[in-house]
Amino acid sequence: MNDRFLKACRQQPVDATPVWIMRQAGRYLPQYMAIRRGTDFLTFCKSPKLLAQAAFDAVDVLGVDAAILFSDILLPLEAMGLPLVFEELHGPRLPEPIRGPADLSRLIVPDPARTMPFVGEAIERTLERLNGAVPLIGFAGAPFTLAAYAIEGGGSKNYSHTLGWLHRDPESFGKLLDLMTLTVIRHLEFQIKTGVHAVQLFDSWGGWVSADLYQREMVPRLQRIVAAIKPMGVPVILYVNGSTHLLEAMNDTGADVLSVDWRLPLDEVRRRVGPRPALQGNLDPCSLYASPEIIAAEVRTILAEAGPTGHILNLGHGILPDAPVSGAVAMVNAAHASSPLDTPHAVRSVEAVD
Ligand code: CP3
Repeated sequence: MNDRFLKACRQQPVDATPVWIMRQAGRYLPQYMAIRRGTDFLTFCKSPKLLAQAAFDAVDVLGVDAAILFSDILLPLEAMGLPLVFEELHGPRLPEPIRGPADLSRLIVPDPARTMPFVGEAIERTLERLNGAVPLIGFAGAPFTLAAYAIEGGGSKNYSHTLGWLHRDPESFGKLLDLMTLTVIRHLEFQIKTGVHAVQLFDSWGGWVSADLYQREMVPRLQRIVAAIKPMGVPVILYVNGSTHLLEAMNDTGADVLSVDWRLPLDEVRRRVGPRPALQGNLDPCSLYASPEIIAAEVRTILAEAGPTGHILNLGHGILPDAPVSGAVAMVNAAHASSPLDTPHAVRSVEAVD
């Protein structure tokens, strides 16, 4: 197996910087659009054969160093008891959101093997399809992001229902976070037992929370997840979008890899978090609209800022639906053209090491 990705997660030396792309099997890819045609998204997410093909196609087209399971972070909410619909053009919607403590009794902590057997089967089929070429990443939403979807019922401009509840009644909000935490632990355990080689937690909306509240309410739950997963021996990646104010809190979770957005250079992230976690990121998703030469130059800058070990190249958020495939390929090629151990450190990170 190409084990660059797993080695970098463990901060071991690699021959070239590993790379994969968040949402690499998404709508920008003609192969995905072709196999998705005629199937609504939720049915697609429950069709293991199609899911395996989608995950495989992304690896095949891009030449990335890891596959990611094709699924969605919102499926466990349906298994918890919340109806879920995906509307073409409008994205996901939960028509019966929860808005306060009285609604908590509507939620259960599901047994994933029973309620989401299609996830297990998708993992088995994807592993078969990959045939050992690259590792497979499993994933879940982080408790806050899942809670926010369950409360808002879909996307939101200001998360007022979610943060309003948190400020008004932190105790019952904490109970909701605990239900999400248990659900996430069971879901990730199920995926790891079925064979994924690493897991990523997506806290896509976590950046909306203040540093204080994140430290107080989110970090203990994320620590619980990391502690439950760690003995299973697979690396845990924590991704938070808009995380500039949360890097220290993210590091406190004990995650093996911190995946960060494009807003800060990685040498600065490294100075803030210290030597231990590996770092993943952090090309601006909009870089992919530039020429291959510009993309390669931006990748080289990121690799120099990241230093020679413990870096996985990725975007700072998911690839956008209208991004050119050629840009994604240019990004992958630029990472593979690198020789991390020979790449000069950015001046700023040399100072940091001193
Ligand atoms: O390659 C992959 O990463 C595929 C697996 C994957 C999907 N969603 C498939 C998907 C993963 C890892 C996700 C995670 C996910 N889902 C997140 C966290 C990552 C992030 O971007 O912050 C979030 C917030 C969701 C919730 C979600 N699902 C939204 C907001 C949407 C609609 C907007 C969009 O990006 O299209 C979805 C639908 C969805 N999930 C699609 C895909 C490929 C598009 C569905 C389609 O129209 O075909």
